[in-house]
Amino acid sequence: MARPRLFLLLLLTLPLQPLSLPWPDTTHGAIAGLILSALERATSFLEHRLPEINLDGAVGFQVLEVQLRGVQSKWAHDALLQPLSLRAGQLADKLLDLLRRSIYYLEQSDPVYLREFQPSIQQGFWKLPQAWTRTNTSLVYHWLELLDSFSEESSDACLVQLLGTGTDGDQPCRLSDFCKALMTKPRCSGYSLSHQLLFFLWARMQGCTQGLFRQSQHYINLFCANMMDLNQRAEATGLSYPAQDLFMENIMFCGMAGFSDFYKLRWLEAILSWQNPQVGCFGKPADRDEEPQEAIPLRQGILRRVRRREKLFTADGCSCHNTATAVAALGGFLYVLADYPPHYGAAAEMLLEDGRPLTATP
Ligand SMILES: *[C@@H]1O[C@H](CO)[C@@H](O)[C@H](O)[C@H]1NC(C)=O
Repeated sequence: MARPRLFLLLLLTLPLQPLSLPWPDTTHGAIAGLILSALERATSFLEHRLPEINLDGAVGFQVLEVQLRGVQSKWAHDALLQPLSLRAGQLADKLLDLLRRSIYYLEQSDPVYLREFQPSIQQGFWKLPQAWTRTNTSLVYHWLELLDSFSEESSDACLVQLLGTGTDGDQPCRLSDFCKALMTKPRCSGYSLSHQLLFFLWARMQGCTQGLFRQSQHYINLFCANMMDLNQRAEATGLSYPAQDLFMENIMFCGMAGFSDFYKLRWLEAILSWQNPQVGCFGKPADRDEEPQEAIPLRQGILRRVRRREKLFTADGCSCHNTATAVAALGGFLYVLADYPPHYGAAAEMLLEDGRPLTATP
């Protein structure tokens, strides 16, 4: 794997002038600049494809907007970081405008789904972690269920119960026994596991604290420990294209749940390397696509619902879901950098599990 070298090379070849950030630690400044540039490119992809963006895409960019606001306000306190703060703030403003406009298209393409999941793209729903923790390896399952009995339909139905957005008029946070059992089922993996975590993460965002939700933190610890284990396994087997989506989703969700060990520098390097540099999206790597490029028509209008997890491949291989998870993962990296001022060295420590020093100064 040549990725770490590629990244160092990138840092070394960056033009010095625009990067002569007034930051005590220039490597941090360079990394923040790289992430911001990637996010600016992804945002112009969102702008150009706004009518095609599904709800998943909107959720990822909504999380990014919250992360950028957090970054903006952390950096605003430091006069030296004003330029970076301004840049994050401008990007967040642009996203706010685009997300407002995207609701119009979502209303056209899938009004039912929009009504059910609208809280997740509303201002104030997503909250940044208030404290950081790390995953606990002793919670990793000894074996996994082979059969995935977890359908996206049932997972969605339980999320709707949680949000209280169904047509039955039920209050948020009230759950059927079916959903309680499904969302706490042990030894799940893949998207089933990430949706179990998403469920408890949304319960936290929604403010559910009673009944099963008294144990929310226990389940969040359990699920993220296993998502970390799966990400490490995915990394060990090379992070091929189909595995990238879940890998980034795990970083997005567990990062927002406050697990800083998902923000590894080498994972950041990998994600940055997956972006389509021209279009700004994430998706199927173009150079490995041996078929002549074919446009797979959008399935909106054919299916009643546009699945959140559905991959919307256009001729350039861009995927809505991939792009959404990538920007929210990258936004988390930026936020963790901003949340740990570099002179404390804590960000360097957390981002660098592979032991390479991040700081140029001791
Ligand atoms: C990890 O989890 C185990 C089992 O629940 C627990 O005994 C241990 O204290 C935890 N370790 C940390 C560092 O939280």
